[in-house]
Amino acid sequence: MTARLVVLVSGSGTNLQALLDACADPAYGASVVAVGADRDDIEGLARAERAGVPTFVARVGDFSSRDHWDRALADKVAAFEPDLVVLAGFMKLVGPGFLAAFGGRTVNTHPALSPSFPGMHGPRDALDYGVKVTGCTLFVVDEGVDTGVILAQSVVPVQDDDDVESLHERIKVAERAMLVDTVGRMAREGFRVEGRRGLLGR
Ligand code: GRF
Repeated sequence: MTARLVVLVSGSGTNLQALLDACADPAYGASVVAVGADRDDIEGLARAERAGVPTFVARVGDFSSRDHWDRALADKVAAFEPDLVVLAGFMKLVGPGFLAAFGGRTVNTHPALSPSFPGMHGPRDALDYGVKVTGCTLFVVDEGVDTGVILAQSVVPVQDDDDVESLHERIKVAERAMLVDTVGRMAREGFRVEGRRGLLGR
């Protein structure tokens, strides 16, 4: 059985592209059935279109409240009947309505080693703090900000001459590998949560 993935993006979509490329191999065990975004005219949506994958957009400003947006987003995702939702550079927090529908089967990739440096500026905060290693984290989304149960992490060195951009690009190399490897294993082997521990395999 091929796992159905819906991927949500907000920007360049290089993590999405890594998943699209991996899914081209039937042995990977998953397929991207739709790509959604919170904004138009982003490379992430163009990548999906080039791959022939259906896309949708749900802009917060088009809805009368954040809650209405949250539930509309959930409805758009539900239309594609995903087994797993992947937030890959999606720059909005999903809320109670979305989590009621997809909590427990929505994962997010964050460019820092959780619990350090949650939020919108992981690479900048790591650089400003002066850590010598940082990295990326794949976690099961919960109601907090980057607080969910961790499924995978990858460590990336910080170099003395790094700026935010060079560090984030180095993190993204590791992040794409982490995402492809972990999502593939989740699709083929399943995963489970035991307290605060995220485990691959049934
Ligand atoms: C990724 O590092 C993601 O963790 C962060 O923003 C970046 C998105 O990159 N939230 P891309 O859109 O996948 O290229």
